[in-house]
Formats: sequence, structure tokens, C-alpha cells
Amino acid sequence: MIKVENLSKYFGEIRAVDEVSFEVAEGENLVLLGTSGCGKTTTLKMINRLIEPTSGSVFINDQNIMDQQPESLRLGIGYVLQNTGLFPHYTIEENIAVVPQLLGWDHARIKERTQQLIGKLHLDASLLKVYPAQLSGGQQQRVGLARALMADPPTLLMDEPFGALDNVTRAGIRKEFLQLDELTRKTIIMVTHDVQEAFELGDRICLMDKGRVVQIGTPKELLFQPADQFVSTFLQSDRLQLEFRSVTLNDIREHLPKTDTVNKDQSLWSAMESADKDGVADLSQLMNAFNQYQTKIKA
Ligand SMILES: Nc1ncnc2c1ncn2[C@@H]1O[C@H](COP(=O)(O)OP(=O)(O)OP(=O)(O)O)[C@@H](O)[C@H]1O
Ligand SMILES: [Mg+2]
Repeated sequence: MIKVENLSKYFGEIRAVDEVSFEVAEGENLVLLGTSGCGKTTTLKMINRLIEPTSGSVFINDQNIMDQQPESLRLGIGYVLQNTGLFPHYTIEENIAVVPQLLGWDHARIKERTQQLIGKLHLDASLLKVYPAQLSGGQQQRVGLARALMADPPTLLMDEPFGALDNVTRAGIRKEFLQLDELTRKTIIMVTHDVQEAFELGDRICLMDKGRVVQIGTPKELLFQPADQFVSTFLQSDRLQLEFRSVTLNDIREHLPKTDTVNKDQSLWSAMESADKDGVADLSQLMNAFNQYQTKIKA
């Protein structure tokens, strides 16, 4: 659905983005992960032509984005800006209605869609009449998401959508995000510097460093088949949790003593939490199976 080929952006001497290539399939969620300044935002902005590339190309549904008017291109792509990017002098209602207005929707249709989305995103209707500065960071991010979703675009670009939040709120919103029906069908490129977030939300992760792609793969591939030392080091501080959360019982199934009652989709983490109660195996059996799995996958 989205194909990025050898995309580069130089700002004078700075190679902000350097020969980046990746593909995102329809309905997939690709996370761009990397430290501050590695070129995530610049990459994202080249996809909806907020920044023109120095070289390289981007195709959406086999159409070169350079063959389209930037304005009409952008109307078809939802964009959640870093730090919400809400217009301070417009009410929440007006902020949410920007794209539908440009698309020429009538008043009733905008109102109906607004009601639908604020319900799904747990925003109180009383907030519609106030201004962004009167909202908490979390509320602002929900509004930013509502604005991007209004016209139900098939593609969504999200730049640090949960960036302004504390860790507890972040984890809560991430859960909601995963359950939101509006998002499940969409093709999403999401930017974050938060490893946990990338692993929870990404079907695949594109790890970047100094403008370049270091590795693209599923969370499990990055963990167990890192392309180089940089990847291992990047994931090191969270490794234990990431591994236990991304490995499912299906992965370690063949190494478990009893396999008939296994819930395949259950993560190792959650199986360990319930190991002593009603689990399929006790803790030592789970750890043993996990060790065998690791040995096998790294071989
Ligand atoms: N308009 C610009 N002019 C000059 N340099 C720029 C410009 N925009 C970005 N850069 C530089 O390009 C590099 C990549 O910036 P970018 O905003 O893409 O990083 P990022 O990965 O999104 O970082 P963060 O996590 O802090 O948001 C940085 O070195 C930045 O200073
Ligand atoms: Mg950025």
C-alpha cells in the first residue's frame, strides 16, 4: 500500500534522512522507532509532502505522490502531529472539523461524525466548545486523533501520538488504541522513541539511527535476530519484558509438557502471571520452554 524507496532529505550538510526504504502492507501498522533526531518526523512528513524529499520516491497504492497535488494527497491521509498540533484559536469542534470542511461536507454530516468519534475516544461533549489550551495533554491527544480520523482515511501517519503523556496514562491509552475499531482496518505509520510502545503497537518495527534504517522486522525478529550490535543495545534495557511479552505460547508450544489446553495467543508474560493458578504449565516449565525456544530461534 505504501512504498518508500531510497528516500533522502538533506538540510544543508545534515543528512536528516538517508536512503530510507520500506513497504507497508494494507492494514499493517509500521512503527518508526529511534532516538531523538534520527529522522522519524522528516520521514513521515515526506510521505504526505509536508517536506519535499531531496531524492527517492514514495508510492501510495502504486501512485507516485509527486504526481498528485499536495493538498489533495493530504486530504486522503490522516495525520497526527507531534505535540498534537491543534489550532489554538479554534474550538475543539472546529479543530476536529477541519478536513471535512475542506472536503465540503454539510453541517449535519460533520456533526454526526463528530459525535460518533468523541464517543469512541471518550471525550466529553462539553469539551467541543472550549479551546485546546483548556484541555489536558491526554485530552488534546485524543482530539488530535479524532481530527485525523474524521474523514475515515485509509492511511494514517502518527507522530508520537502519545508523546505528551506520563507512563501510566500512556499505557492506558495504548490499550484503548489497540481496541479502537476505527484503527484496526487502517494502514498506519506511527513514530515513537518509546521501545515498549513500539513493541506493543507495531506489526513491524523500523529501527532508525542517524537518518538510516538499521533493521526492519517484527518485534520478535528485532529481539531474537538483531541485525547488529546497535539493535541489541537499543533494546537491552527493556529486553526481559519485551521478550516475555512478545513470545506467545504458540511459539514455545512444542517445548511445553502439555499442549492440548494451550491458548496459542496468550503471551508468555501473561502465562507466567497465571502460572500458579490455572496455568498450562508452572513457572519452571515455562522458563524451560522459553530457553529452548530461544536457543532454537537464535541458531
Ligand atoms: N527544517 C529543518 N532544517 C534543518 N534541519 C532540520 C530541519 N528539520 C529537521 N532537521 C534536522 O534533521 C534531523 C532529523 O530531524 P527529525 O525531526 O526528523 O528527527 P526525529 O527523529 O523526529 O526526532 P524527535 O524524536 O526529537 O522528534 C535532526 O538533526 C534535525 O535537527
Ligand atoms: Mg520527531
